[in-house]
Amino acid sequence: MIPGSLRTGSLNAKLAATAAYELAQAGADVTRISLGDFALPIYDGDLQTKSGVPKNAINLKRMIGVHHGVLIVTPEYNASVPSLVKNTIDWVSRVQDAHETRGQVFHDRAFAIAAASEGRLGGMRALAALRLILSACHATVIPNQLALSFACEAYDDMDRLKHPADVEALKALVRQLVDVSQRMM
Ligand SMILES: Cc1cc2nc3c(=O)[nH]c(=O)nc-3n(C[C@H](O)[C@H](O)[C@H](O)COP(=O)(O)O)c2cc1C
Repeated sequence: MIPGSLRTGSLNAKLAATAAYELAQAGADVTRISLGDFALPIYDGDLQTKSGVPKNAINLKRMIGVHHGVLIVTPEYNASVPSLVKNTIDWVSRVQDAHETRGQVFHDRAFAIAAASEGRLGGMRALAALRLILSACHATVIPNQLALSFACEAYDDMDRLKHPADVEALKALVRQLVDVSQRMM
């Protein structure tokens, strides 16, 4: 589980926590990370040539590599993914461990995508961008996705999703991620 925001009180981190709970209910062992624990410089080819891929990108790639499925929950910034998300994917796509092709970690597991936004579109455009980016990395991105609109008002006092349609969409996403992950094992 990869929330694409480091912000205190992040709506996407909240959705990631809710999705982690649903995944656990579906029988999955879930690791919810913070990209703050995998801080990376802005991708620069000269930096890579000089110093190699940063250790945090290698560590994140290996963390992804021990899981059968990945859910990225991204904010939408100016109709696309935040630089944090793109930069992380760019670095991880450059990792090549022994006996692997470069970026192989994207090839052999299932990816799911979700977004939360205060607005009506729920981060739909960020999801379109993220699906394209992951597809360019030859990832299998499951067809279901979740764009949580008006995310500020989507939760009750107990931090549960209020609207049955949102609950159903999240459950369907989780079910499909587990299903496709199992088929790809
Ligand atoms: C630079 C910037 C650009 C944004 N652009 C969009 C946008 O295009 N669409 C949208 O729905 N929200 C946009 N937002 C609002 C974010 O969706 C909102 O701040 C959201 O809470 C960020 O996610 P987080 O709560 O997980 O940090 C933008 C916010 C920032 C800071």
